[in-house]
Amino acid sequence: MVGSAFAEAGADLELVGIHKRFPGFTAIEDLDLRIPAGSFFALLGPSGCGKTTTLRLVAGLEQPTSGRILIGGKDVTDVKSFKRPVNTVFQSYALFPHMSVLENVAFGLRRRGISDPVGKAHEALQLVELDHLAARRPQQLSGGQQQRVALARAVVNRPALLLLDEPLGALDLKLRRQMQLELKSIQDDVGLTFLHVTHDQEEAMTMADTVAVMNKGAIEQMGAPEELYELPRTAFVANFLGQSNLFTGPVISSKGESMVVDISGVKIEVPKDRSQRHNGEVTIGVRPEKLSVHSEAPAKAAGVNVLGPGRVTDVSFSGVSTQYLVAVPGLGPITVFSQNMVFGPIANLGAEVWVSWTVDHGFGLADDPGDAPRFASDTNTATIATQTRNELLAEIGEG
Ligand SMILES: Nc1ncnc2c1ncn2[C@@H]1O[C@H](COP(=O)(O)OP(=O)(O)O)[C@@H](O)[C@H]1O
Ligand SMILES: [Mg+2]
Repeated sequence: MVGSAFAEAGADLELVGIHKRFPGFTAIEDLDLRIPAGSFFALLGPSGCGKTTTLRLVAGLEQPTSGRILIGGKDVTDVKSFKRPVNTVFQSYALFPHMSVLENVAFGLRRRGISDPVGKAHEALQLVELDHLAARRPQQLSGGQQQRVALARAVVNRPALLLLDEPLGALDLKLRRQMQLELKSIQDDVGLTFLHVTHDQEEAMTMADTVAVMNKGAIEQMGAPEELYELPRTAFVANFLGQSNLFTGPVISSKGESMVVDISGVKIEVPKDRSQRHNGEVTIGVRPEKLSVHSEAPAKAAGVNVLGPGRVTDVSFSGVSTQYLVAVPGLGPITVFSQNMVFGPIANLGAEVWVSWTVDHGFGLADDPGDAPRFASDTNTATIATQTRNELLAEIGEG
């Protein structure tokens, strides 16, 4: 196997109590993270939440304000960037246009005086299935192929840790999906530790063993994709990773295995072992695909929540499924995804309908419904420019 030469090179990454403050702005707030060797880890969050800053800290391009960074158990917080066993693949591939694909991949090895750079570059290109194009120039390749060259160039160094900063962001949707699968299989082959940063939830879920959802500089929840999707702990996770119907109200009974929440007079049952809180004001939720739409009131049954009657206020067809918005008095719009098993909608715009779901599918969040956001977001790029300039000046002064 081509990948064998790369195997067993992955290392654990550990971030301990990391804070990163830029002048006037906190980008990372008390970040703790442990990524086991050989895993494919995704850091998922909206633009500006601190993903790139986290990667830059790991790569040694930024210093944390406080906290420690360990790679393979070794504290690298004060180790210079080029001495860390880390490589980064950025969104812009930054290939050298005047060099062949092969030379682009061999370049780093040559510069570091590593033996057999050409042989190793061919091996890395085989891994990304581009060896047959080794003699071409980057501009003679498609976007997806250029991305694979960038990956080969990073992997050829056999870093213990590969950082990927939205590497598929420039590709169109179809190519992106294809590259996601390829990246995943390359990671399986080489056994390196991948830390992949993305704002695309589907991408994170498709590729990673573990996903950490980041919001405003902190990790809200971390786990296997199915776990996060099934049991989101916060409203942010419930809505950033897929969509959710959320309702807030007081718990009015919590005897037995489920609790009952009063949502403006409507009683909704939620399993207690799927709820973070069991008393007071709580926010509960259910995923849209777990709901069924009925044109007649369903018979009352144990273990089923029924809402309605309500009105269909929107029907949008998306191929595999149809999305319905149902307005139920006092509850606001409820989103339902219904798989298209029959031709035509199961309920028309304006129709009177009921919505139901199995109690077991609900979840209860940890959020205190009265909580204010942690700290304000700030996208003032002037401070970034100032800091970058100061860093450059400091580096020139040093050299
Ligand atoms: N050098 C800097 N100076 C000041 N603020 C910065 C600097 N770098 C990043 N930030 C801010 O930190 C936040 C996180 O940025 P970043 O890590 O690039 O987010 P992401 O990659 O998740 O989109 C943003 O609000 C950004 O404006
Ligand atoms: Mg970024």
